[in-house]
Amino acid sequence: MKTLIVYYSAQWHTKTIAEMIAKELGADLFEVKPAKAYTEADLDYTDGSSRVYREHKDEELRKVALETTDVPGWDNYERVIVMYPVWWAIAAWPLSSFVTSVDFGDKIVYPVAVSHSSPLGKSGEALASAAKGGNWQEGIRFSQDAGEAEIKKWADSL
Ligand SMILES: Cc1cc2nc3c(=O)[nH]c(=O)nc-3n(C[C@H](O)[C@H](O)[C@H](O)COP(=O)(O)O)c2cc1C
Repeated sequence: MKTLIVYYSAQWHTKTIAEMIAKELGADLFEVKPAKAYTEADLDYTDGSSRVYREHKDEELRKVALETTDVPGWDNYERVIVMYPVWWAIAAWPLSSFVTSVDFGDKIVYPVAVSHSSPLGKSGEALASAAKGGNWQEGIRFSQDAGEAEIKKWADSL
């Protein structure tokens, strides 16, 4: 099945796991890039005046502009895995911005969360209900330090 992994990674954990899954499935990768990348200071969630903190408080600010949402060969993919870091128990919003900008049509879609400790929770369902189209499946959450065996096991189960 022709598979695409769309991921957003602010630091590197989600990217690393996305690359492992891509290798296992022979999938292509598409990195979601905000037009204005997040700096380390932007990501400081302990600072009430940081970019990420202000965006979290105001839902309107979470609609971040992306470099592009044009995925080469989008129509050819039958399955899409969307991967994101968990920010305050929801999907990091650059990934949500991607999800709400495209039409998933009849593609099979799996949400994959990467977090320090939060579970998948409702993060995948929230993306599914905000998205246009897609045959959304139950997703999975990996710890930011997940090992290769665990990641391979999930990929092989698809
Ligand atoms: C703004 C922000 C909010 C976060 N909120 C949570 C959270 O609610 N629960 C959690 O377990 N981890 C949280 N984390 C940790 C990240 O989900 C975790 O480190 C993730 O692996 C980062 O992925 P990345 O390296 O691909 O960006 C947060 C990190 C940031 C920067």
